[in-house]
Amino acid sequence: MPETVLVTGGAGFIGSHSCVELLDHGYEVVVVDNHVNSSPEALVRVAKIAGRPLIAAYAIDVRDRAALSEVFARHPVDAVIHFAAHKAVGESVSLPIEYYDTNVGGTCALLSVMHEHEVHRLVFSSSCSVYGDARTVPLSEDSPVAPTNPYARTKLMCERILEDVCARLQDLKVLALRYFNPVGAHPSGLLGEDPHGIPGNLMPYIAQVAVGRREELSVFGDDYPTPDGTGVRDYIHVMDVAEGHRVALEHLDDRAGMRVFNLGTGTGTSVLQLVDAFAAVSGRSVPCRTVGRRAGDVAALVADASAVAAAWGWTTTRDLTTMCRDAWRFQELNPDGYARPSARAGGPTPGESPDG
Ligand code: NAD
Ligand code: WQD
Repeated sequence: MPETVLVTGGAGFIGSHSCVELLDHGYEVVVVDNHVNSSPEALVRVAKIAGRPLIAAYAIDVRDRAALSEVFARHPVDAVIHFAAHKAVGESVSLPIEYYDTNVGGTCALLSVMHEHEVHRLVFSSSCSVYGDARTVPLSEDSPVAPTNPYARTKLMCERILEDVCARLQDLKVLALRYFNPVGAHPSGLLGEDPHGIPGNLMPYIAQVAVGRREELSVFGDDYPTPDGTGVRDYIHVMDVAEGHRVALEHLDDRAGMRVFNLGTGTGTSVLQLVDAFAAVSGRSVPCRTVGRRAGDVAALVADASAVAAAWGWTTTRDLTTMCRDAWRFQELNPDGYARPSARAGGPTPGESPDG
């Protein structure tokens, strides 16, 4: 029997790519997403790419325990991947209650419903932001954690909650994956990152400048102690992140309890290096203007990715050029995101439902 995986936040950026990866590897997939930051169109495209449908997609809030319990009652869930969360650092400072409620409250609701239905296997989306202002890179899982904003604190709190619940529920197996900077898109150009409003993250902003939707990129500081003075990050292709989740599912049963792993490449790239790589791949210019540092930014965040390699024998395979090429393909085919795809990407078919 194929395993059934419940994916919360499955219509989002990382969730949708992970759904494709799971469908491609024979899993049955059930999605729960309230679409607060995603479009149901992403799920139509997931099924199109995979060539087979999801078992079902439910437009419900993970905090709605009764509705979530109904989903578990309907499907024989073998494992859960919990992506559903709010993720914008700046917004978390203005909306802390919403962030704690959704990210921490949503995780607690999910854990109680999993317990009620005796589902014991969970992969949790954590973040490199739990490390905060790192003094030295690369960062291993043992590096000190010091989150500097409400969003990052929600992720660390969830990790702590998961540890405590694992200590109490001996059957529970949890893998918390701390992603560094996921970018790129599915190579088909059908699926990608479609931020609502002005992008807060670097790669989608560069892509929108390259396509002519925005005038220029503001480079947030060129006086960091890095080789070219701009911020250095560990960009990881979203398909590698998706693959990492599929491999994590295969290793959930290695042992009970909670384990934490970084998901990164181990390679640092500066803002200007990413701009140059994107310009080269797209053949478009990306005008830049250096402005002051962004509040709360850190000089460099790069993963020590060796733990996951040692534990699973798995490493990322997609390089920076591939990340830029795939992000650009999605941007070109979907200049306005999922809202108004170009004819080549194909819009939603009337009457087509993401539900299986
Ligand atoms: P995303 O916003 O694209 O996806 C999150 C999905 O969850 C969206 O589809 C949203 O509609 C859904 N969602 C939010 N609240 C919900 C709720 N209460 N009930 C049901 N669905 C809800 O974000 P993403 O980039 O795909 O991130 C996925 C996960 O990975 C998040 O937990 C995020 O914190 C984590 N993460 C992301 C990054 C990154 O840079 N993208 C880095 C590290 C960790
Ligand atoms: C990357 C670099 C900016 C935009 C965020 C979250 C983190 C995690 C990953 C969820 C930095 C610079 C950016 C722009 C710029 N997400 N920049 N101009 O801040 O490393 O991490 O995403 O868990 O929690 O904090 O990513 O893409 O915003 O920035 O110069 O318009 O690009 O200063 O050096 P960040 P980012």
